[in-house]
Amino acid sequence: MRRIMEAGRLCLGLLASGRGSNFDAIMTAIIRRELNATMAVVISDNRDAAVLQKAKVHNVKNRFVNPRDFNSKSEYEQHLVELLQAESVDVVVLAGYMRIVGSVLLDAYQDRVVNIHPSLLPSFMGLHAQRQAVEYGVKYSGCTVHLVDEGMDTGPIIMQAVVSVAQDDDEDSLATRILVEEHKIYWRCLQLLAEGRIYLEGRRIFIC
Ligand code: GAR
Repeated sequence: MRRIMEAGRLCLGLLASGRGSNFDAIMTAIIRRELNATMAVVISDNRDAAVLQKAKVHNVKNRFVNPRDFNSKSEYEQHLVELLQAESVDVVVLAGYMRIVGSVLLDAYQDRVVNIHPSLLPSFMGLHAQRQAVEYGVKYSGCTVHLVDEGMDTGPIIMQAVVSVAQDDDEDSLATRILVEEHKIYWRCLQLLAEGRIYLEGRRIFIC
């Protein structure tokens, strides 16, 4: 069993493509001193992402990086790694980052890229997880925080929260209720990392 990281204050870099409500929830936990971390930089692949404005409000460095400015995904990710390392980031937080992370970023941050996904993985990977859950007819869905590996939404699971699906739910109503749980569990997982309490054996995570 291998400890993911020693206890200590985390230096976070957050990648996001859109709204940024998870960013806000993490910032709130930092400000309340419930999460022992600093938010070093927010990077978005979307020029218009609201998360960039939210970062400005919190005086957090923020960058738009256009993947189209690069010849390949590897070159794009190499640039991300340089930005993250320049800020001494030790954990990369994906919060609504709508791209599959490739080997360049994963090699630079092995077992230190975390993601939140709005379903109980391994159910409903990929896009529109909440719509998939409603259409499938499951009675429970939820959200999952996991380490990122080279697959899509396949990495070792740190924590999940369950949300019941009502008969009259649609994608939006379910997404809204799942989001409430996302905002509760993401920063808690990061705090467990900060406390040095997360261990990995195979693909199983142990919280000790
Ligand atoms: C969240 O629901 C998150 O779980 C989801 O995008 C939303 C981002 O919201 N992520 C994925 O679907 C990743 N596969 P936010 O920008 O308000 O944090």
